[in-house]
Amino acid sequence: MAENGLHVYDMVVEGCRLPVRMAGSDEWPLAEVLSRKDNGDANPMFYVHYLDFNKRLDEWVTVDRVNIEKLQFPKKDNKTPQKEGKAPSSRASTPEKELQNGGMARTKSTAGRKRKLPIDSEDSQDSLPPQSLVPTKGPRQTGSLVDKTHDDVITRMKNIDMVELGRHRIKPWYFSPYPIELTNCPIIYLCEFCLKYMKSVKCLQRHRAKCNLQHPPGNEIYRKNTISFFEIDGRKHKNYSQNLCLLAKLFLDHKTLYYDTDPFLFYVMTEYDSRGYHIVGYFSKEKESTEDYNVACILTLPPYQRMGYGKLLIEFSYVLSKFEGKTGSPEKPLSDLGLLSYRSYWSQAIFEILLNLKGENGERPQITINEICEMTSIRKEDVISTLQHLALINYYKGQYIVTLCKDVTDGHMKAMQKRKIRIDPKCLHWQPKDWSKRGKW
Ligand code: ACO
Ligand code: ZN
Repeated sequence: MAENGLHVYDMVVEGCRLPVRMAGSDEWPLAEVLSRKDNGDANPMFYVHYLDFNKRLDEWVTVDRVNIEKLQFPKKDNKTPQKEGKAPSSRASTPEKELQNGGMARTKSTAGRKRKLPIDSEDSQDSLPPQSLVPTKGPRQTGSLVDKTHDDVITRMKNIDMVELGRHRIKPWYFSPYPIELTNCPIIYLCEFCLKYMKSVKCLQRHRAKCNLQHPPGNEIYRKNTISFFEIDGRKHKNYSQNLCLLAKLFLDHKTLYYDTDPFLFYVMTEYDSRGYHIVGYFSKEKESTEDYNVACILTLPPYQRMGYGKLLIEFSYVLSKFEGKTGSPEKPLSDLGLLSYRSYWSQAIFEILLNLKGENGERPQITINEICEMTSIRKEDVISTLQHLALINYYKGQYIVTLCKDVTDGHMKAMQKRKIRIDPKCLHWQPKDWSKRGKW
């Protein structure tokens, strides 16, 4: 305790930096204080962002986890950190800031349309205003600007503690614009089939007595064993699409969000058991993409991550492109995990082709990059960047050649054998639509 009754922790205000012990580790990386909570005693809590780490690790910490001796005050020339309400601009210097801005920009497009989202009343969400959001890219954003700093203050912190979805309890990673009333609930409850959000188990039970869905809406366009895909039109199934975007936003933070679901299709992957078709993940896709993006946003729900479902979703997106007779690419920017997953998928898809090549008359096998694109539906830039990333491509006597050495091939053979579930194009029952011919979708 300082002499004049002030506590040493009173110095720790928004924008300060200091080493903080990360949850579940003995590391003390430098973190920035984004907010503080005073509990009326000498032990405030701080909401911190670890500077060199993804924002999903941001968390509330108690005073025993901060190293006050190494406290750095916000620099004066940085126009910000004030005690109340302003977002520390020093965050702009972190590499993630650019990504976060995407997530923040939503109020641009919803500005002027803000209305309270209803909660819990049984049919309330049938008349939801277009407040929830679909990820899309910059140029679509229109609408008047709101105070961006204010927006940042709201959206920079996780606002939901826990989500219950079917048999899973999931901890959110990022902010999502659920109604403010729900942010005070220790857990929010989602109907796992229509994704409606509720504040209590009781409400959920009441809802389940009425909601007879056992699968996502839309058409089941793929089924093999227990895996199905449903195609959902964002215009025809607005409530579902908006609820899906709200849920997805809890785990996606690098995209601009857009309120209108009409221009999108949603492909929801489910796993079947006797109780129904349970959502595992999804990707969204623009009905018409001028840049031939075949995925806008992609997500595997955390309980299912790192089990190969992400690559299954990606594979499905390329199978759709193949049916369309096109190459495609995911919308940029990719998140850190998105890039890892795409790199891994692209590498395997390309390896699979290279390893199956046969040379004619004892000659070395030959293939052009365009042929690889055609066979995989992966866009040319992505094929080249993958070959470069794998350091497989060399310039030799006026042409590019790909050299495969045994170690690399063995490694990839193993990785491919590990990938048990694959998309079987024979199980896809789907016709591509030419949305440009349909007038208004
Ligand atoms: N740490 C290290 N590697 C990882 C991690 C992780 N946390 N998660 C996935 N990977 C790697 C896997 O090791 C695997 O590579 P390998 O097979 O070569 O070992 C590869 O990424 C894919 O793994 P999957 O199990 O198929 O993918 P998963 O089901 O976990 O889904 C996804 C990946 C969709 C990116 C998931 O992490 C997710 O939903 N993240 C949150 C949302 C997000 O960031 N989406 C992508 C945004 S980009 C866009 O929308 C276009
Ligand atoms: Zn429901």
